[in-house]
Amino acid sequence: MKANFVLLPGDGIGPEIVQQARLVLESVAKLFGHEFSFASHMIGGIAIDTCGDPLPPETIEACRAADAILLGAVGGPKWDDPSAKTRPEAGLLKIRKELGLFANLRPIKLFKELVDASPLKREIIEGTDILFLRELTGGIYFGPSGRTGSGDTESAFQSMVYSVPEVERIVRLAAKAAQGRSGRLTSVDKANVLEPSRLWRQVAARVMAEEFPDVQYDVVLVDSMAMHLINRPKDFDVVVTGNMFGDILTDEASMLPGSLGMLPSASLGDGGPGLYEPIHGSAPDIAGKSIANPLATILAAAMMLRHSLDMQPEADAIEAAVGRVLADGLRTMDIARGADSIGTEAMGAAVIERLSV
Ligand code: NAI
Ligand code: MG
Repeated sequence: MKANFVLLPGDGIGPEIVQQARLVLESVAKLFGHEFSFASHMIGGIAIDTCGDPLPPETIEACRAADAILLGAVGGPKWDDPSAKTRPEAGLLKIRKELGLFANLRPIKLFKELVDASPLKREIIEGTDILFLRELTGGIYFGPSGRTGSGDTESAFQSMVYSVPEVERIVRLAAKAAQGRSGRLTSVDKANVLEPSRLWRQVAARVMAEEFPDVQYDVVLVDSMAMHLINRPKDFDVVVTGNMFGDILTDEASMLPGSLGMLPSASLGDGGPGLYEPIHGSAPDIAGKSIANPLATILAAAMMLRHSLDMQPEADAIEAAVGRVLADGLRTMDIARGADSIGTEAMGAAVIERLSV
């Protein structure tokens, strides 16, 4: 099969980690008999420095024409001047909007070899494997907002709005993901207080009953979910929720495995290319030293094959190779806990050595 990928290395450690993911993808192509092509384009700080725009038009065009996009990270102290006209992050927000990426997928998987990196007790965390789907383009972050009055009586508002189609499409995506995993889906809302949550709950229940009777479905209130996540994380499989609740819960959940350098994410739209990236930032403190952990980006590449190209065995092969690397005791500095560590390139090469069909 042929596939054409756009790489957006970005800033800081972005180019170092994306390069390792590319080498892994090239090995997968060889191993499985595919033809992958790669084109790198600019986003973020480097794009501001080069042409004054954090998301140049040629980057948008290339992304639209791609099968999928792999991003490193954007930003850094160099572009933090508050008086600057534009910031690197603006490029990231714009590309999500341009491509209509309405669903953010964040798997929270604890590799058993890294159980001691978690701030939680082994008994609680062991076996945790959750896939979050956060609605990304609606809800309170995009609702009507403004201010009224002035001075001591000034007030501000921001409204949460969800429509039937917005709920249907994210619930369908989540239910399909659940079918490909253990067949369990949890929807998180605040239906005891918020009207858009009541609509969400009603639409989700209908979609699940009519289209996914095989998926075991339940609902949890967001405040309870915040507790359950650190109390019994392994009870959850796929979790779907709105924009703001997802923002907060996925940040909470990403701390469970205790290793930022290991977690990938995906942003998906309707049919168009998906955008895949590590959840961490550009780590300017370690950029250029070849010590960054490339595994989150390599796992993002696995998600890319799974969700955008339907290449399940290929994605499994990458994830299994990462598991073997950890089982063999190889660690980058961020997960080594003071023991011996290897660099970015050695880690990428170790994954490639352990790839098998
Ligand atoms: P960060 O995630 O870049 O770094 C936090 C800490 O984790 C640092 O000590 C860093 O060295 C370490 N770290 C992160 N990724 C690592 C990896 N792969 N291997 C080893 N260690 C790793 O977050 P921070 O420091 O808050 O932000 C730095 C810059 O990144 C800022 O300009 C921020 O705006 C940007 N950022 C960009 C994101 C994106 O492009 N999606 C997301 C988050 C932050
Ligand atoms: Mg956030």
